[in-house]
Amino acid sequence: MTVFDDHVARIRAGGPIDVVAGSLLALLTRDERLGCLDGDLEFWSGLAGMLSASRAPWPGAAIPRLGVPGIQFSDGPRGVKLGSATCFPVAMARGATWDTELEERVGRAIGEELRAQGGNLFGGVCVNLLRHPKWGRAQETYSEDPAHVGEMGAALTRGASEHVMACVKHFALNSMENARFKVDVSADERTLHEVYLPHFRRVVEAGAEVVMSAYNSVNGAWCGENRALLTGILRDEWGFSGIVISDWIAGLRDPVASVKAGLDIEMPFRQQRAYALPEALADGRLTWDEIDEAALRILTTLLRYYARLTAPAPPISVVASEEHQGLALEAAEKAIVLLRNEAVGGEPALPLAAARLSRLAVVGRLAGRPNTGDHGSSDVHPPHVVTPLDGLRAALPGVTIDFEDGSDRDSLWRIVAGADAAIVVVGLTASDEGEYISIGGDPAILALFPPRPPRVEGASPAKQAVVGGGPSTASMGGDRTSLELSGRDIELIETVAAANARTIVVLMGGSAITMEGWRERVPGIVYLWYPGMEGGHALARVLLGDVNPSGRLPFAIPVDEAHLAKFDRDATAATYDLWHGQWKLDRDGNAPAYPFGFGLSYTTFSVKALAARRDGDSIALRAEVANTGPRAGATVVQAYAGLPESRFERPLRHLVAFSRADLGPGERREIEMRIPLERLAVRDGSGWLVEPGEYVFTLAQYAGDPEGQPLRVPVGA
Ligand code: BGC
Repeated sequence: MTVFDDHVARIRAGGPIDVVAGSLLALLTRDERLGCLDGDLEFWSGLAGMLSASRAPWPGAAIPRLGVPGIQFSDGPRGVKLGSATCFPVAMARGATWDTELEERVGRAIGEELRAQGGNLFGGVCVNLLRHPKWGRAQETYSEDPAHVGEMGAALTRGASEHVMACVKHFALNSMENARFKVDVSADERTLHEVYLPHFRRVVEAGAEVVMSAYNSVNGAWCGENRALLTGILRDEWGFSGIVISDWIAGLRDPVASVKAGLDIEMPFRQQRAYALPEALADGRLTWDEIDEAALRILTTLLRYYARLTAPAPPISVVASEEHQGLALEAAEKAIVLLRNEAVGGEPALPLAAARLSRLAVVGRLAGRPNTGDHGSSDVHPPHVVTPLDGLRAALPGVTIDFEDGSDRDSLWRIVAGADAAIVVVGLTASDEGEYISIGGDPAILALFPPRPPRVEGASPAKQAVVGGGPSTASMGGDRTSLELSGRDIELIETVAAANARTIVVLMGGSAITMEGWRERVPGIVYLWYPGMEGGHALARVLLGDVNPSGRLPFAIPVDEAHLAKFDRDATAATYDLWHGQWKLDRDGNAPAYPFGFGLSYTTFSVKALAARRDGDSIALRAEVANTGPRAGATVVQAYAGLPESRFERPLRHLVAFSRADLGPGERREIEMRIPLERLAVRDGSGWLVEPGEYVFTLAQYAGDPEGQPLRVPVGA
């Protein structure tokens, strides 16, 4: 039994955690205390290991002499970036499921796969709000809506936390990619607390033990040394008592200021602090009390985690197990959003009747290749990937399936014209969007590197610039330049639609794709996302009607990009306000192509608002949801709140609760949704105010649903 184990046992036996952690801290030497405050790898050799794509957990704050395991971090969110793990659909796809119970199971599976491979910290709870669909890392978060992101992130955290600690990132206002190392984001009190921070709070309250600060600066201070965020809001206001770690390599600029701001661990290397802190302690800019405060938080968090860990350690066979692959399939199926399903020859284009198919054309360069998301820090390496073409071939063994990637127009025309239906798979890949690695040429960041030891073999200057595991090329990922499909994809859709009346467009990508030029020309549009390792099977099951589509958009798709908030991917300064996505479309009176929350089904549903009542600190809404059609299916009942007579500028309506309902044909069910009053509050000055007045809660199946039913609830002063 190590000294650390002994301290864990004392907590389990009822010892007060602050006392036990204090006694552990007292056993540490000064070097060990200081060593808690950064990653455990040396910078240059660590960087070289990073370049060779080593997929071991990132260690920090370990003290082998006493058995303190430290943090052992691995990325996500589409799985664990270790070994050959299960690759789930990207977070945005899972956001489209609106299924928190499923997300919790995904979190648990990820936690198991990480723990089985020696990790204890899952760095994949990314809840930065999708302010604009051009954000390169849109796929890593859940949606444009704070309430929705918060519930999904909390579910992932709950699940993962059964096995590991969860790290929520990137705190905060990190919603642009190319400019992430240089942009200062300004936001006023209301914008911060009502739009960009509530979901972080929700995830922290759901048990995230670690918070990763962002690269960008907020209101003039880099996030890794932003005391207002890391101490004022996170610890003092929200009561967070866990660990704050930096984002990798460029996450802090002033090591002393970062300690004073409340950042505990510089990740992932002994980079700036290892050199600067001893000097600052010697000349009095820092005190040992300040070092100990951070070291104590780190030890306390580790002790708390190991003391609460009761689930048995999973065997290595959980990694990409059949059960987890089944979960990846379920998530991919539930994520698929059916956007359009018009009649062809008197009946809806989808589902395809397998019995009546003899020839199917599958076209597009994305149909036959694995496309699971970006190649940045969220990349997961599954044992196999089922492409759309693989999935359709497996599901339709008796059908002739002709595949053409689109490059040979003659053969394209031939196979499409002769087919019973044409499936066109188009959209985005890792070269269009994703994490953007761009620090190579930035002298401000190169200046953060420690002096290079003469005898250590390093990488070339370009390679030294790599962060997060991918090569430093401007062509990889980053923010999108357009919301439209490429000209080549649009031309392909138009060619196929002209040759085959039953043309189904399958979109891949991580956020909104505008489609005004062509969407009316095809009868079917399906959003497949980056659907994970089992995505092709999921697609086949939805297209053939074995699974009834139930995904709902986690963002609005505008008819015109000009209707969205301003987005400049090279900005050095940006101001965020209350307005983006569906809220902005509503305010400006611009109808979307497809609203937030929208998705079709092969059956039909009705939602009837029954009653609303105030119940202590919350409002309870009751509704009846019914499947009014002939097939089993699922819908998402969405509750939107508005206060028409408000004295504040507010969204016309905003999501306050949602509930997914699976219903057999003709089945009806009563559901209740609870809305904590704080979801209605406005940040007035530095406090919260639930403004008195008559609130209107609309129960609907998407934002602006004309069939939505209102319930009015007066809330007193
Ligand atoms: C990303 C983080 C990630 C870290 C480690 C950074 O570049 O911004 O999201 O966790 O790399 O891979």
